[in-house]
Amino acid sequence: MKELIKELEKVMKDGFKEAGLDEKYGTVTVSNRPDLCEFQCNGAMAAAKEYHKAPFQIAEEVVEKVKDNEAFESIEMVKPGFINFSVSKEYITKYVETMRNSRDFGLEKPDTREKIIMDYGGPNVAKPLHVGHLRSAIIGESIKRILRFMGHDVTGDVHLGDWGLQMGLIITELKKRRPELPYFDEAYEGDYPKEPPFTISELEEIYPTASAKSKEDTDEGRAYKEEALKATNELQKGRRGYRALLEHILSVSVTDLKKNYERLKVSFDLWNGESTAQPYIPDMVQKMKDDGYAYLSDGALVVDVKEDTDQKEMPPCMILKSDGSSLYNTTDLATLVFRMKEHPDRVIYVVDKRQDLYFEQVFRCAKKTGIVPKNVVLDFIGFGTMNGKDGKPFKTRQGGVMRLSSLLDEITDTMYEKIVTNQTMTEEEARETADIVALSAIKYGDLSNQAAKDYIFDVDRFTSFEGNTGPYILYTIVRIKSIIKKYEEGGNDGEDHEINPAVSDSEKGLYLALAGYQEAMLSACAQLAPHRVCAYIYELSNAFNKFYHETKILSCEDPELKKGYISLLKMTEAVLEQCIDLLGFSAPDKM
Ligand code: ARG
Repeated sequence: MKELIKELEKVMKDGFKEAGLDEKYGTVTVSNRPDLCEFQCNGAMAAAKEYHKAPFQIAEEVVEKVKDNEAFESIEMVKPGFINFSVSKEYITKYVETMRNSRDFGLEKPDTREKIIMDYGGPNVAKPLHVGHLRSAIIGESIKRILRFMGHDVTGDVHLGDWGLQMGLIITELKKRRPELPYFDEAYEGDYPKEPPFTISELEEIYPTASAKSKEDTDEGRAYKEEALKATNELQKGRRGYRALLEHILSVSVTDLKKNYERLKVSFDLWNGESTAQPYIPDMVQKMKDDGYAYLSDGALVVDVKEDTDQKEMPPCMILKSDGSSLYNTTDLATLVFRMKEHPDRVIYVVDKRQDLYFEQVFRCAKKTGIVPKNVVLDFIGFGTMNGKDGKPFKTRQGGVMRLSSLLDEITDTMYEKIVTNQTMTEEEARETADIVALSAIKYGDLSNQAAKDYIFDVDRFTSFEGNTGPYILYTIVRIKSIIKKYEEGGNDGEDHEINPAVSDSEKGLYLALAGYQEAMLSACAQLAPHRVCAYIYELSNAFNKFYHETKILSCEDPELKKGYISLLKMTEAVLEQCIDLLGFSAPDKM
C-alpha cells in the first residue's frame, strides 16, 4: 500500500485537477504547526504565479472540490493560501487496519533486487578494537539490515587492516624476543608450527610496545623503525617465514575480533583484508600504465582525478610510491578489482568522514580507469567522531584509548545496577537483561544521530529509561509485552481481532504514528539513514505511552473493545520489534 502521505496527496492532486489546475501543486507535507492541523498543502502559493490569481482563491477552490472526501476530519484555507487539514478517525483506522492485515505492514519493497557489497568494520589486525571502529560496525550493520529487509542482496565485508607497517613491527619485536623461532631462519625449509607463537593478549602487548620503540627519537628508535619497514617489505614480497607469521597474527586476531563483534551483534559474510587484494595489484597497475592513465610524477606513479567542475583541491591518486611500494589507495583499488568479479550494482563504504577526500579520489580513479563500470554506484557514508562529554574524542578516564570491550563492560555494569533494583529478577536474569539493554543504549545512542555528525557519548543520558534513548524504546516494548502477557494469562486466547475505530485523540495519535511506518522505512533505505528509523520509533513510543496513560486497557469492561486494544498493542509491538531489529538490537521480556 502507498504511504499515508502519498494517499492524501492523491486526494489533493485530484482536487487541483478538478479545479482545472496542474496536479503538481498538490504536494502534501506533515504540518509544521501540529497545534493547528496534521497535514498541509502549500501548492496554491506557487500555482498563483502560473495562473495569475491570488493564492487564497486557488486554495479556496481546491478546498471546495475535496472537502467532502472521507479522508478529512477538517480542511480549511488559511490566508495567504495554505490548505490545512486533519484526517478523519474512520480514514486513519481503516488505513492502519489494512496495514495490520498486510505483509510487512503494507510496505512496498522495491521491485529490483540490487546486489550490494558493504565495506564496514575496518578493524586493524593486532590492535585491539577501539571505539573508533565502533561507529563503522554499528552503522554498517544497521544499513545492511535495512537493505536486506528491503529485499536487496547484501554481502558484508569486514576489510581488515592487515597489510601495513603494524605487521612489520610485530615481526620485528617478536624476532628480538624469540630469535630462535623458525620463522626468522631464512634457510628453514620445513613446515612451520601450527600453534601460533603468541596469545591474543601477548599480541596486543607486542604491537604497542613495538610501535612505541619505533617512534623513539634515538638511534635505536630509528634503527628499529628501519628494521620494521624492512620486515614489512619482505613480508609484502612474500618471504615464507613472515607469511606464516602473518597467518598466525591473522588467525589469533580474527578469533578475538569475532568475539567482540558477536557481543555487538555485528556480523560479516566475508573476512577479507587488505592482504586479500595484494595479488591483484601487479596486473591492475600494468593495465593503468598500458591504458595511459598512470604516469610518473616525482618518481611516484599517479592517476589524475581532477574534474573541471571541482571547487576544491583534488590531488592525483597515488598508485605506487617512488620506491615501488603500494599504498592504502592501491589496496582499495585492487579490492575493487576483485569485488567487481561479483558484479555488484553498488558498493557502500562506512568509514570515518575524515577519509572523505581519499575515497573521492579512489572512486574517481576506479571509474576513470575502468576498474569499476560506470553504472556501478560507489557510496561513501562518512561518520563523525564519537566524543566524550568534554567534546574531545572519547577516552578512558585515564585519558587512554578506550577499548571497545571495556566500554561494553562499563555500560553493561551501569545497566546492571539499574536493573537489579528490580527485585523480581534472579542474578542471572539481571545479567542477561543488562547485556541486552546496554547494547540498545550504545547502538541507539549512536544511530539516533545523523551519521555524518559528531556526537557526545553521554553514558548517563544513553542509559536512561526516559527520553530519546534505546532503553526507553525497550521499556516501551516491555510494557506492551507485559500487558499482553497478563491478558493472555487471564485465559484470553489471543485470537486475531480487528483494531477499534479510533475515538480518543491519543488513540488517533497512535494510529497516525503507526501509519508513518512506510515513510520511515522507505526514507531510511533511500538515504541509508538508520537515524530515520530511530526518529520513527521514538515518535511511535511516545504516541503509545500517551495512549497507554490515557486508556484503560486491561480494566476495560467491554470485552470486544479490549480485544481491539490488544490487537493494537500487538501491532505496535511488532512494528517496534521489527525496527529495533533493523537497528541491530533486541528487547528483553522484563526490565
Ligand atoms: N582500517 C581502516 C582504519 O582503521 C579502515 C578501513 C576502511 N575501509 C576501506 N576500504 N578503506 O582507518
